[in-house]
Amino acid sequence: MTRDHLQIVVCAAGPAADVTQLITTATQQSWTTAVTATPNALDFIDVEAIKRLTGHPVRSTYRSSPGGRRTFSAADALIIAPATYNSINKIALGIADNYAMTTVAELIGRQAPTVVVPFVNAALAARVPFQRAVANLRNERVRVFLGTDDGWEPHPSGSGNSRQRVFPWTAAFEEVTWMAGDMHASSTDRS
Ligand SMILES: Cc1cc2nc3c(=O)[nH]c(=O)nc-3n(C[C@H](O)[C@H](O)[C@H](O)COP(=O)(O)O)c2cc1C
Repeated sequence: MTRDHLQIVVCAAGPAADVTQLITTATQQSWTTAVTATPNALDFIDVEAIKRLTGHPVRSTYRSSPGGRRTFSAADALIIAPATYNSINKIALGIADNYAMTTVAELIGRQAPTVVVPFVNAALAARVPFQRAVANLRNERVRVFLGTDDGWEPHPSGSGNSRQRVFPWTAAFEEVTWMAGDMHASSTDRS
């Protein structure tokens, strides 16, 4: 039996350092995982620790080895977390200017169950482009984990450290597995 595979995309914000929590949670639930990082996110993560936990090197460029071919990361589900203001706006617009953004664009286009967990302060979240981006992603059936119902709100500027400690890694995983299960069920119904 093949195990479900979770593609995790990390952006350049503080909680990226704790992505190992998501990997561990997913592994305990028998999912395989791989991490793709935006180029800026590489400064925030421990690539060796991630490689040990996932069994795969962190990807941030098109090539997995010097001279290697362009490859695409297939996945049963996608979590983009932490998702920065910058990357959320780009994803909503369809911008694919690095390997992580291209992976995200393609997986959303393939209708992979996708959860985005923003880590933005209230000032950035108040911007109209950000609010449009969130609405547009939701229209594409991307689950943006943000708002009172999710118990996850933009934080006041300067409070990022305390918010990082309560970043909803487990809730994001539960959400995406629920979505993936729902999609399995509807494809079985159709067959
Ligand atoms: C120490 C540090 C912390 C940052 N924290 C955040 C953050 O919490 N949220 C955010 O949207 N951007 C944050 N930024 C800014 C992003 O890193 C910046 O917008 C970057 O261009 C995002 O790149 P990416 O979206 O490609 O990962 C932070 C930058 C630094 C240097």
